[in-house]
Amino acid sequence: MKKNQLLTRRQALYLGLGTFVGIGALTAEELLNSFNQNQSFADTNRSFNIAGANPLKERAAKKGLIYGTSTTKFSLSLDTQHAAAIVKDCDMLVPGWEFKWTAGSANLRPDAENFDFSQADWMFDFATTHNMSTRGHTLVWHESLPKWFKETVNKQNAQQLLEKHIERVVGRYAGKIHSWDVVNEAISVSDGLPNKLRKTPWLNSLGPEYIDLAFRLTAAADPDALLVYNEKGLDYDDQIYDQRRAAVLKLLERLKSQGTPIHALGTQAHLSPGNNKFNPEKLRQFFRDVASLGLKIMITELDVSDKYLPRDIAIRDRIVAATYEDYLSVVLDEPAVIAVITWGLSDKYTWLNEFAPRQDGKPSRPLPLDTQMQRKLAWNAIARAFDNAPKR
Ligand code: XIL
Repeated sequence: MKKNQLLTRRQALYLGLGTFVGIGALTAEELLNSFNQNQSFADTNRSFNIAGANPLKERAAKKGLIYGTSTTKFSLSLDTQHAAAIVKDCDMLVPGWEFKWTAGSANLRPDAENFDFSQADWMFDFATTHNMSTRGHTLVWHESLPKWFKETVNKQNAQQLLEKHIERVVGRYAGKIHSWDVVNEAISVSDGLPNKLRKTPWLNSLGPEYIDLAFRLTAAADPDALLVYNEKGLDYDDQIYDQRRAAVLKLLERLKSQGTPIHALGTQAHLSPGNNKFNPEKLRQFFRDVASLGLKIMITELDVSDKYLPRDIAIRDRIVAATYEDYLSVVLDEPAVIAVITWGLSDKYTWLNEFAPRQDGKPSRPLPLDTQMQRKLAWNAIARAFDNAPKR
């Protein structure tokens, strides 16, 4: 799109600039600049230039950070170019399906009695072979539960089911896993329960203590792993995000005060520009509050959805890159942040095409590499954020 080309009304709305549409068409540049002011981005002439071509893992490691990505056996075993790109850029691997109860083509828990570790072992072996650490994701979640689970679990057998799962899964890799997302997404403001806990089969069968229990079982099964509480929707500035951050902080305070063996907060950071307000100071304060509890912080599922951005790829890529750099430049100022994991490395395998597709049906472009494993402006933005981050 040319800078002086008029955007359609629809594109202006995409930019979250509905208020501007009424004043007649603006040029692409005028709208993008308004978008940037509206979204508190730096100027759109940002160069995204970087020094050198060294990989993201090296730039992160120079600052005492770990950079990694999630992926699946499906996309690694069938796509050698993709596998090579991950080995080149990443120091950590997060199996996106294989350590869940069931997800995609993986089925760790075929029934209440048995485990199928074949795909989890394959992913662990791939990481180890390529000198990458592994994150376990995730032991206790309300999603990715096999059909038999909800038909089987009840107040009488839930604790035994949880104990067996954690002892077998965590125990199998004990001493060899960097960190476990022990509990994922336990907070739901809209569920309206005390402490804003989410209505899950775990809460229903074990009560609020299921969270502490899961951490204690995991610590017993692997005293070396970093134990993480992982949560989504902590990034932006509006009431629901304020409430969620407050509820997560209260949960972390409660867990720490009762001696739960928890070591870090994982913030998923699925970012979505053009549809949210970004408030750097609020985010800094939240990270300071978490760190003041003696917890580390991991950015565990970072990606930037272009769902609400214009069709034009050049504009989309610029806004996605600016979002990465603006977010990381804020969070990496917090010394407690130890790792940045993107939820995928290449657009070819982003979950967003399925879970948050664009209305125009165009493929999403949320990640550092394009579908041909070529570096995008987003790659440069992450590289710059690491290069400019304070050393841990
Ligand atoms: C997603 C995977 O990327 C998909 O492939 C899968 O079908 C569903 O789960 N938050 C999480 C992740 O904690 O486990 C989810 O991953 C994305 C949202």
